[in-house]
Amino acid sequence: MAREQFGICAEPNLHGSYLLYNALDDKNTFIRAAISRLPALFDDYADQFSEANLTGVIAIGANYWDEFYPQARPAHLSAFPVMNCGDRFAPASNVDIYIEIRSDRADVNHIVSSKVCQLFADSVELIEHIQAFRFLDGRDLTGFVDGTENPQGMYRREVALVKTEDDALFDGGSYLHTQRYQHNLTLWNAMKNKEQEDVYGRTKLDNIEYKSEEKPLTAHTKRTSLKDEQGNAIEILRQSMPYGDMKRQGLFFVSYCHSPKPFELMLKSMIYGDEHGNVDHLLKYTQAESGAAFFAPSLTFLSELKES
Ligand code: HEM
Repeated sequence: MAREQFGICAEPNLHGSYLLYNALDDKNTFIRAAISRLPALFDDYADQFSEANLTGVIAIGANYWDEFYPQARPAHLSAFPVMNCGDRFAPASNVDIYIEIRSDRADVNHIVSSKVCQLFADSVELIEHIQAFRFLDGRDLTGFVDGTENPQGMYRREVALVKTEDDALFDGGSYLHTQRYQHNLTLWNAMKNKEQEDVYGRTKLDNIEYKSEEKPLTAHTKRTSLKDEQGNAIEILRQSMPYGDMKRQGLFFVSYCHSPKPFELMLKSMIYGDEHGNVDHLLKYTQAESGAAFFAPSLTFLSELKES
C-alpha cells in the first residue's frame, strides 16, 4: 500500500494549527508544485524539533479536486453532506485546501504555519486559521474526555486509510471531514454534572461509559455508536481538538476514514435521530459553524505530483 501522510493516524498532540485556504484563479500549477514540497517541509521541521512530535496533513477539498488533479478523482469523494432539522444544522463551507499541523510546541506550529503560507504566497486566500490546544487530560471544553473510543494502535490505519482493493489509484489516502463547532458554555455549565453526563452517556470525572440499558437514546455516544447490517461497528478516526479564546470557544471536529459514509451516517443519526425522534442532545449546547469534505492523498501520490 502507498505510504500515508503521518499526521492522519498520529497520536494526540498538545497544539494544533489548522489552515484553510481557497485557491485563486489560474494558480493550479503553482499550487500543485507547492503542495508537492510540503511533506519535505514537514519532515525538515520534525527533524529539527524532534522533541515536538510534529506531523502534518495536506488535504484537497471535494469541490476543488477536479481542478487540482483533473486526471482522476478518489472514488467516493463528494461534497460535504449539508443537514438541517429543527434547530440542528450542519452547514457547508467552501474550502479548497486543508493543512493540519500538529505538535507539542505552539511556537513550532507557528513557524511551520508561516512557512506554509510563504510557500503558497499569493496563489491562495487564507480563509480561516484555527489554533487548537489540548485541554486538561484530553478533554473537550465541556469537560469530558474526547477520543476514548477511538480506534487504537495499528487498527487506526485500518479505519482511516483507503485500501488498495477499494481504490488502487488512491490507496493510503483518507476521506476527511471537518466541522468547527462553537459551544454555548454558559448554557452547558448551568447544568448539573449528572445532566451533562446523560448528554454524553459517560461519567465526567472518571470517564466511564454508562451501561447500555442506562444510556439515554439521545446521548451523544448512543447516537454515534452505529453498527452495519452484519453487526460490525461503523467507525471513524477522530483527531478533533478544542480551540478558542474568551470570545468564542468550541471543538474543531476532524474525522478521517477509509470512506466518507461512516461520518455521514453518524452525523445523520445526531441531527435527524432515530425513527422515534431521538436526536443528539449535545447539539443543544454546541452549533456547527462550518463543514467541509476533503481527501488527504498518500505521500506517494503527493511525491508523484511533482512529475505530473
Ligand atoms: C462539538 C462536537 C462534539 C463533541 C464535543 C464531541 C465529544 C465527544 C465525547 C466527549 C465523546 C466520548 C468519548 C469518546 O469516545 O471519545 C465522543 C464520542 C464519540 N463521538 Fe463525538 N463529539 C462531537 C461531535 C461528533 C461528531 C460530529 C461525530 C460524528 C459525526 C462524533 C462521533 C463520535 C463517535 C463515533 C464517538 C464514540 C462513540 C462510542 O463508540 O462510544 N462526534 N464525542
